[in-house]
Amino acid sequence: MGSLIAPHGGTLVNRVLAGPAAQEAVQQAKGLMQVVLSARERCDLEMIAIGAFSPLAGFMGEKDYRSVCERMRLVNGTVWPIPVVLSPSDDVVAKINVGQKIALVDEKSRLLGVMQIIEKYAHDKALEIPNVYLTNDPAHPGVAIVQKQGSWCLSGSVDVVNPNPEPEFPEYRLPPAKTRQAFEAKGWATVSAFQTRNPIHRAHEYLTKCALEITDGLLIHPLVGETKFDDIPAEVRMACYRVLLDKYYNKDRTMLTVMPLAMRYAGPREAILHAIIRKNYGVTHFIVGRDHAGVGNYYGTYDAQKIFDQFGAGEIGVTPLKFEHSTWCKVCEGMVSAKTCPHGPETKVFLSGTKVRDLLKAGHRPPMEFSRPEVADILIRWAKE
Ligand code: ADX
Repeated sequence: MGSLIAPHGGTLVNRVLAGPAAQEAVQQAKGLMQVVLSARERCDLEMIAIGAFSPLAGFMGEKDYRSVCERMRLVNGTVWPIPVVLSPSDDVVAKINVGQKIALVDEKSRLLGVMQIIEKYAHDKALEIPNVYLTNDPAHPGVAIVQKQGSWCLSGSVDVVNPNPEPEFPEYRLPPAKTRQAFEAKGWATVSAFQTRNPIHRAHEYLTKCALEITDGLLIHPLVGETKFDDIPAEVRMACYRVLLDKYYNKDRTMLTVMPLAMRYAGPREAILHAIIRKNYGVTHFIVGRDHAGVGNYYGTYDAQKIFDQFGAGEIGVTPLKFEHSTWCKVCEGMVSAKTCPHGPETKVFLSGTKVRDLLKAGHRPPMEFSRPEVADILIRWAKE
């Protein structure tokens, strides 16, 4: 793995079985009880399998779960901000005993992997929800998912035979071992990563290009796992990313690959998770702008930046690149933030999400200071469908 940044916890996990071991697991699974994973659990299983969740090798046990909720660390002290649990419905869990092996399957009963149950413990939602999401509001999309999960969690390491039977964007779906190889091949010692669940508008483009000015390479790394119903679908976003990369980015310095994580919308804690995951992919710098991984008004604009100060630099390993709210200034004639621009709010091109949606639905491009025309056209086509 050469001189690249070490994975979180020191070793890149690989829980994907190959060759005879995989065949044996497939045979064995035929005699096991099947447990159907939820969308979030499927994403989490894939993240574990490919090492993106290193050092996790399976779904968390009770001590790690409680420690993560209470102090953002695994029991051994490694920073980890959000629980990763398997919590099927109570009637399913009632049929499962500690020590038993189960087959993990998707909603079409396709085998994903096998897991030996090490622990069965109470899912302490009263601990998890307010600690992780900083609210108990059931309208919060991350909270709503935890509330729908079962009352019990099952823990154990996983042996995966198929991380994803229907992978979207296969040519962009590089696991951490492969992005690491790519960075080495390109000779990038430092790499900035950009997390996003939105199309790239001018503000996003500005952050990514500022970051690229100070690192060797840039990884545009959209989240393509489960998102909330009103987020823009991943295939529409991918079309936007591709056209932008084609026309406005330096291809020798920029890579586009996808990350199969499910969004939690947990703001500050999720920013830490996003950074740690990117370290596993071999990234050294991570962009954290305004209201990172936020939703509604649950988190302060810069809370997801401030949370990094709670940890020693070596504990996260990745350098957060903190950006102020960026917009186009008509006087400066460029992208600016409050840090760089002396002009007032009246000079800024600001559009609310609702305004942008209304424009797109009506077939109008938002101003070029907000969004590149090529991106606007893809979004207009989608909005009209
Ligand atoms: S997120 O859920 O993935 O954070 P989004 O795709 O909107 O949502 O944002 C991606 C990254 O860009 C985040 O780090 C976010 O903080 C940052 N960001 C988005 N818009 C702006 C902006 N106008 N100014 C500064 N940072 C921004």
